[in-house]
Amino acid sequence: MTLENFIKSRVSQKTYTEQSVDHALIKELLDISVFAPNHKMREPWRFIMIEGEQKELLKNRYLEQLPKDLADEIGKKLDKIMKAPMIIAFVMPLTLDYDDEIEDLQANAMMMQNFMLLANENGLSTHVKTPPFIKTDLFKSVIKLQPQEIVSALVMVGYADKQNVAKRRTPAQDLITYYK
Ligand SMILES: Cc1cc2nc3c(=O)[nH]c(=O)nc-3n(C[C@H](O)[C@H](O)[C@H](O)COP(=O)(O)O)c2cc1C
Repeated sequence: MTLENFIKSRVSQKTYTEQSVDHALIKELLDISVFAPNHKMREPWRFIMIEGEQKELLKNRYLEQLPKDLADEIGKKLDKIMKAPMIIAFVMPLTLDYDDEIEDLQANAMMMQNFMLLANENGLSTHVKTPPFIKTDLFKSVIKLQPQEIVSALVMVGYADKQNVAKRRTPAQDLITYYK
């Protein structure tokens, strides 16, 4: 397949087979993904892998500290996310400079897209999510972030149980203005 095909056939995958994901492969793909542009070579990322029994452990540790009604609501969201055999939390350090932080988020997004395309090339499917709870102090402590870190996104990874069709995009023709 060409790069064009990989870009156009990547779709968010919500359901997966039970086949587990090989650690060595994911490490290899992350080692390639980080060749994304990043300002001043800050390399503003690290990765937390959650899979197998650790998914349930994280869920329980989080939900047991929430009030019942919120635990029910977040529990349902976590159950959807945890359908994937592996969840990768892409972690970004916070800086004291707002502009640097925007650049670091952009770098994270580029690196994540690299990862998702490479995953597709290797027969895997993915879904990136930024549910609001990832920003809460409680979730950050349960997932063991350092004080000056955020989860830039959760990326679910696994083998698709069905083929999804890519959604239509607006053609560039409708988006381009020629500066005069
Ligand atoms: C930064 C970011 C955050 C996202 N957060 C969510 C999310 O919280 N929940 C969700 O279902 N999808 C989320 N998505 C996935 C988008 O909904 C999805 O990419 C979009 O609908 C296009 O579909 P496709 O990925 O199949 O092309 C997110 C995507 C991005 C880039």
